[in-house]
Amino acid sequence: MSTEPEFDQFAKDYEDVLDRATQIGGEESGYFASYKVDIVHDRIGGDGQDLRILDFGCGVGQSIPYLAGRFPKAEILGTDVSSQSIAVAEARHGPLAHFTPYEDGDPLPYADASVDVAFTACVFHHIPQAEHAAVLAEVRRVLKPGGTFFVFEHNPLNPLTMKVVNDCPFDENAVLIRAPELRRRLEHAGFEEVRARFCLFVPGQLRWLRPLESVLTWCPAGAQYYVQGRRGASSTTSQLQSV
Ligand SMILES: C[S@@+](CC[C@H](N)C(=O)[O-])C[C@H]1O[C@@H](n2cnc3c(N)ncnc32)[C@H](O)[C@@H]1O
Repeated sequence: MSTEPEFDQFAKDYEDVLDRATQIGGEESGYFASYKVDIVHDRIGGDGQDLRILDFGCGVGQSIPYLAGRFPKAEILGTDVSSQSIAVAEARHGPLAHFTPYEDGDPLPYADASVDVAFTACVFHHIPQAEHAAVLAEVRRVLKPGGTFFVFEHNPLNPLTMKVVNDCPFDENAVLIRAPELRRRLEHAGFEEVRARFCLFVPGQLRWLRPLESVLTWCPAGAQYYVQGRRGASSTTSQLQSV
């Protein structure tokens, strides 16, 4: 029997809750969403022609307008276990993406090897650790050979991040993951060329220092980090496994 997904209760005021929690960083939550999409765009390039891009754990769709803006010719997909969040995403951004809810523990609602780029922001710390391997196998299954996965996560080594997480009502049950551990999990799931890079070093109050961020990606002091991995061109499809 499934219980109500945790984020259903936050679907209506998700952005207000997030804005209150992140105000210490001197930016509204939209800044963080566009920042991450800009990184993906820097790495993938182009206008998205012939690409299917999946926002895994898209919530109320905060990243969707930025994905659609950066990749105007891509087909954008969003999925989440919170059907209430998906309903809000559909109402707000329906013309920009195809939204599909799915049940926790079920296969993702996409065919094998049907997605070019998978993106996920601040989702894995809400998924029980014991399920990570199965979820990573699912993302890898839906990626095309050669497709890329970007996982953005909070950095538990950053004190400002810890303050935001501790103050944020929907992070009550969050279990943060260090970058090297998440990198290992992607490698164990069969992703190749896996790299972790740190980001979001400079709060809004010191934004004039932001040009330095691009040379600091090695430094484990950023407020967040991302792990990038590729589904190898010749690898076989993984199946969802129960854990
Ligand atoms: C902090 S919100 C982030 C939402 C969105 N990615 C963003 O950046 O605004 C975490 C999201 O992860 C979703 N989530 C939790 N467990 C999940 C799972 N097993 N599969 C997909 N999404 C999940 C929640 O429903 C929620 O929408």
